[in-house]
Amino acid sequence: MSKLNNKVAIITGGGSGIGKAISELFAQEGAYVHIVDLNAEMAQPVVDSIIAGGGQAKLHACNVAEQMEVKRVVESIGRVDILVNNAGIAHVGNLEKCSIDDFDRVFNVNVKGAYNALYAVVPVMKANGGGAILNLASIAAVVGISDRFAYSMSKGAIYAMSMSVARDYMADNIRSNSISPARVHTPFVDGFIAKNYPGQEAEMFEKLSKSQPIGRMAKPEEIAKLALFLCSDDAGFMTGNDYPIDGGFIKLNN
Ligand SMILES: NC(=O)c1ccc[n+]([C@@H]2O[C@H](COP(=O)([O-])OP(=O)(O)OC[C@H]3O[C@@H](n4cnc5c(N)ncnc54)[C@H](O)[C@@H]3O)[C@@H](O)[C@H]2O)c1
Repeated sequence: MSKLNNKVAIITGGGSGIGKAISELFAQEGAYVHIVDLNAEMAQPVVDSIIAGGGQAKLHACNVAEQMEVKRVVESIGRVDILVNNAGIAHVGNLEKCSIDDFDRVFNVNVKGAYNALYAVVPVMKANGGGAILNLASIAAVVGISDRFAYSMSKGAIYAMSMSVARDYMADNIRSNSISPARVHTPFVDGFIAKNYPGQEAEMFEKLSKSQPIGRMAKPEEIAKLALFLCSDDAGFMTGNDYPIDGGFIKLNN
């Protein structure tokens, strides 16, 4: 009863956090998982453990911000049924704390990286009769969160990019959706707490946990389950939308 039998999936940023959980679950459900990640040292053990557990996976060391690198990877894979645009980086700061370098760094990965993967994969999906795309947006795309100037804009772009692709490629049997998690406990969160709030790690962790009305951060595995549903044939009627997974953050924070 595996949900992704015979499907070929690309997961960008599959070496850590949410992408790792998605890669593991998709492999468990029968997909051949191609992890595309900048950090090969971190991603290789994820691939090794999927294979050790009887799954199918391969690592492609690649910077999603580089169009030619992404193109080569996708060409080497051949058929692609599922693309999860998950690779992303953070930046904490308001407009005045966002230098042109910060802006470019965030946009090159979060926006151009997703575009590069879509640009390479969509023609392959068209030629193969369709596919499912899932893009990692964030509650920051639709809620005003302090000190997330560049990051929020990048996730707003993902929200719109996802919808645009859904519209333009519906006739090609390609579905495209995004998901918007609130805080998920991953190295991404630990990293930005350590960098931006040194000495106040425990206090910030508590504060960020409580910012979800449900009182905690999500687990990466919880995000992976929604990703699995949206990328499986069970979600065949779902396209062009964003799905918050947020412990009540958007609607119940009052
Ligand atoms: N963790 C959260 O609270 C949260 C909330 C909402 C949305 N998101 C989004 O979910 C996605 C995953 O977040 P996470 O928390 O799992 O992050 P993470 O830092 O744990 O993992 C990100 C992965 O992306 C890879 N990566 C980074 N830059 C890359 C590049 N240029 N090319 C290829 N790979 C690259 C990293 O090596 C890493 O494996 C991101 O897009 C993030 O914005 C996270």
